[in-house]
Amino acid sequence: MVLLAACVCTKGGKALVSRQFVEMSKSRIEGLLAAFPKLMSSGRQHTFVETESVRYVYQPIDKLYTLLITTRASNILEDLETLRLFSRVIPEYCRTMDEAEILDNSFNLIFAFDEIVALGYRESVNLAQIRTFVEMDSHEEKVYRAVRETQEREARTKSKEKAKELQRKRTEEMKRSGGRSITSGGINNTNNNNNNSGGFGVSGGFGGVSSTFPVEAITTTTQDTRSPSIKSSNKAMKLGGKTRDVDSFVDQLKSEGEKVTSSDNITHNKTTNNTPDIDMEPVHIVMSEEIVLHAGRDGGLQNMEIQGILKLRITEPDSGFIKIQVENTDTRPIQIQTHPNVDRELWKTKGQIGMKMNNKPFPNNTDVGVLKWRFHTVEDSYVPLSINCWPQDNGSGGCDVNIEYNLENITMELNEVIITIPLALGSPSPLINECEGEHEYDRSRSCLIWKIPIIDKNSPTAALDFTARGNPDNFFPVCVSFTSSLPYCGLKVLGVVGNSDGAAVNFSQETQLKTNTYEIN
Ligand SMILES: *[C@@H]1O[C@H](CO)[C@@H](O)[C@H](O)[C@H]1NC(C)=O
Ligand SMILES: *[C@@H]1O[C@H](CO)[C@@H](O)[C@H](O)[C@H]1NC(C)=O
Ligand SMILES: *[C@@H]1O[C@H](CO)[C@@H](O)[C@H](O)[C@H]1NC(C)=O
Ligand SMILES: *[C@@H]1O[C@H](CO)[C@@H](O)[C@H](O)[C@H]1NC(C)=O
Ligand SMILES: *[C@@H]1O[C@H](CO)[C@@H](O)[C@H](O)[C@H]1NC(C)=O
Ligand SMILES: *[C@@H]1O[C@H](CO)[C@@H](O)[C@H](O)[C@H]1NC(C)=O
Ligand SMILES: *[C@@H]1O[C@H](CO)[C@@H](O)[C@H](O)[C@H]1NC(C)=O
Repeated sequence: MVLLAACVCTKGGKALVSRQFVEMSKSRIEGLLAAFPKLMSSGRQHTFVETESVRYVYQPIDKLYTLLITTRASNILEDLETLRLFSRVIPEYCRTMDEAEILDNSFNLIFAFDEIVALGYRESVNLAQIRTFVEMDSHEEKVYRAVRETQEREARTKSKEKAKELQRKRTEEMKRSGGRSITSGGINNTNNNNNNSGGFGVSGGFGGVSSTFPVEAITTTTQDTRSPSIKSSNKAMKLGGKTRDVDSFVDQLKSEGEKVTSSDNITHNKTTNNTPDIDMEPVHIVMSEEIVLHAGRDGGLQNMEIQGILKLRITEPDSGFIKIQVENTDTRPIQIQTHPNVDRELWKTKGQIGMKMNNKPFPNNTDVGVLKWRFHTVEDSYVPLSINCWPQDNGSGGCDVNIEYNLENITMELNEVIITIPLALGSPSPLINECEGEHEYDRSRSCLIWKIPIIDKNSPTAALDFTARGNPDNFFPVCVSFTSSLPYCGLKVLGVVGNSDGAAVNFSQETQLKTNTYEIN
């Protein structure tokens, strides 16, 4: 079976949750879903429809559809069986089958979908196993939600208080100025810092649904999407009555199909572009981590989460029969999860990542996520880089802002650090009193950008001092981004060995740490 995507969508073809298992652009999946309702002939209870390039296997549930998009070469019986499993999983997490409930539980659904589909081979999991995996995945999510709810409550209370305070000031001023209304400089911007819409884990996506976990975490090869019939004539297409819609849809698919056709080249270009200075061996390992951090302006960490994934790319078919030896030297409570198709016992007892089915190789020519880890904390001591931003009202419509960073963990090395400080809307260029590093005023976005090429133990701290118009609230949230080639969590690949002889296998490796959200609000 080659499953391209698993989705829950409305009858109109709007995606509520969609998990792609091959590299696929957002617009393509949206296009595929939008076209789906048009393909269905009214009145008849089909369970699947096909176009020249894909097959939709679907099941209506109340006002929604559970939908799998597979290649046409895929075995239809297997597709239907998988669809049944997907459909049974949904009521496990959603009490009712409506949009709101699906969106609320989108993370659980995505985790559950991932457990059903594994490493390009169909996973033979049952509902009980899925439940266990998903519980593991979503524990952190629950903690985060609880934290966020508290924060939101606090923010609401605070803004109410602030509104009251402003109202009081205004009345006082009105009294003083003999009844004329006065609008003071910063009032319009006071809600700036409540605009914390960048929630964890919800990265754009469809109706806000797509895990921050790299979407390509589990991919199958796109090879099979190159259906030879893409190039055949439209004549073969006779689906339902709406032939014109179908034809234009097929045209669209054709042009997109063309993209799919050259995906090997694209993938190859992308891979080589991403790793300009690494000689890729037939066994290539990428360890990537992403940080989400929210901290308060008064210093307290609200929430930090690191998500990591170990991806394996085999570029020669015969190189897939391997095991990876991983060492975990981290003493922090990091949650580690192996992919369902990875041998758990082997991982637990020996720290080795190998396929559960010993006779099967890791899939080649595709990135497979074999290990993922998460670290969630609210403890200040784990923050890699602290930011201290002090705006001081100067009493005449401006602030002296002193901002300082400090590398809290000096074993880390952060590159391409960018600290963005918002300024009052339309404010003139700020006056820089002191700056270590480069700074830049972005008039269009009304912010001051502070760039530091590298922060490490040799230069762990620096300051920027400027004067600008506005009130203290205008200078938040401060946003930070950086990359690093050193990992945050203490996981390390020690080596790769062959399955049969246990001999060392050459491999190449890269490590990337980057920020997803790093915000002081
Ligand atoms: C607040 O967020 C909303 C949507 O999330 C956006 O439309 C609006 O422009 C934001 N306001 C500010 C002040 O950033
Ligand atoms: C890759 O591109 C080359 C030329 O750019 C082409 O000849 C070749 O067929 C392409 N390979 C695949 C797999 O599409
Ligand atoms: C791959 O990169 C080469 C050189 O950068 C370029 O000529 C070629 O068109 C690219 N192929 C694809 C499919 O993008
Ligand atoms: C390697 O990948 C190709 C597609 O890229 C596939 O046709 C082939 O069967 C794979 N070989 C093995 C041993 O998995
Ligand atoms: C306060 O800040 C504003 C805005 O930068 C500036 O125009 C003004 O001169 C400052 N006042 C004093 C007393 O520093
Ligand atoms: C500091 O960073 C290193 C490497 O990322 C890590 O092993 C260590 O546990 C960190 N220490 C703290 C206190 O977070
Ligand atoms: C592994 O790499 C080294 C250095 O690149 C090379 O000398 C050696 O022959 C390689 N071994 C295998 C088994 O490919």
